Amino acid sequence: MPSPLLREAFLNEVALRAERTGQWLLAEEHGPVVSLSRLRETTRAYVARPGKRLRPAVLLFACAAVGGDEEQALPAAAAVELFHTWSLVHDDIIDNDDLRRGQPTAHRLASTLAAEQLGLAPAAAAHYGQSAAILAGDIQLAWAMRMLVRCRGQGVSADVVLDLMARLTDQLAPQLIDGEMLDVEFSHRPPDELSEKEILNMQELKTGALLGYAASTGACIGTDHVYDNCSAAQALNAFGRACGIAFQLQDDILGIVGDERQLGKPIGSDLREGKATVLILHALRHANGREGDLLRHVLGNPEAPTDEIAKATQLLTDLGSLEHTRVLARQYIAGAQAHLAELPPSPSRDLLEAWGEFLFDRSF
Ligand code: IPE
Ligand code: IPE
Ligand code: MG
Ligand code: MG
Repeated sequence: MPSPLLREAFLNEVALRAERTGQWLLAEEHGPVVSLSRLRETTRAYVARPGKRLRPAVLLFACAAVGGDEEQALPAAAAVELFHTWSLVHDDIIDNDDLRRGQPTAHRLASTLAAEQLGLAPAAAAHYGQSAAILAGDIQLAWAMRMLVRCRGQGVSADVVLDLMARLTDQLAPQLIDGEMLDVEFSHRPPDELSEKEILNMQELKTGALLGYAASTGACIGTDHVYDNCSAAQALNAFGRACGIAFQLQDDILGIVGDERQLGKPIGSDLREGKATVLILHALRHANGREGDLLRHVLGNPEAPTDEIAKATQLLTDLGSLEHTRVLARQYIAGAQAHLAELPPSPSRDLLEAWGEFLFDRSF
């Protein structure tokens, strides 16, 4: 996106879709029926917070880019956001993080509710918080499926709805979960033993699978074709998957040098958790003995002091690791955008291109 004006116009288009999707997400009649108030609050917490809503946006842009009616695709846009939200709630437990979308993570929120309303002691409240957040995530997953079913009411054919559900259960869910599990496993392996290829594959699964699903779903609804009969959906799936890798690479960069307030999640936790990222791998490969010792002391050390984190961060710049990651992300975006040639030129195709650009350019 060359000029600030274009960027602003793009963000306005995203905001418009976020608002329309929000009407489906927040409407009482489309939500899950949860009787327990603490579970209800935990289930709805992230959904009501201002996320970027990138997945609904790409789904709706894709629908319009193949000549479809975005109105028909709104429940599906809500579904991909809910699926994402489920993965975030569980991911925050896995990563033991405190902050999401600028506020306490679901398990921390539920833990506070348990302490305040049930008078639980800290350890019991923490366990309660994790239990409630696991269950809230489970409800969000069911809620996503419920939203896909709601597409019928918008006139999407039964064949397409069934195909979307099957792709979600048979491909998307296992791939995203495999990606998350690989992420967990990688954090227990010495980072120097991993290859860049393994990390990129993990990122494609945990992030790219959902972006590909979102983009291709827009095309299936817009053309009224199931995925296997829709070349636009297949091109958009490839577009989304490659964008996912670039997005994740940028996420890893922001996790090191981003602004915590702007980002709404903690900075430096990737280092403290010893997360396997392309950035860190590059640094370890290029560090001299002393630099490598410093990095290894910080990696996976939850007690690492702030000044050591700051030194390690500086090292990631000095060794060219940040730059290497940026170049790689740029390459994936360019590769992704090449798939858009499958679609006829249109303002919506331009928005898809800008969406890819934004994943790489963003600071939040
Ligand atoms: C965060 O996704 C999780 C990853 C896949 C890295 P987003 O950065 O899209 O999060 P929200 O939806 O804006 O909160
Ligand atoms: C996000 O992964 C969760 C999924 C993609 C399923 P990360 O752990 O890398 O992202 P953040 O930093 O928590 O958003
Ligand atoms: Mg995380
Ligand atoms: Mg994670």
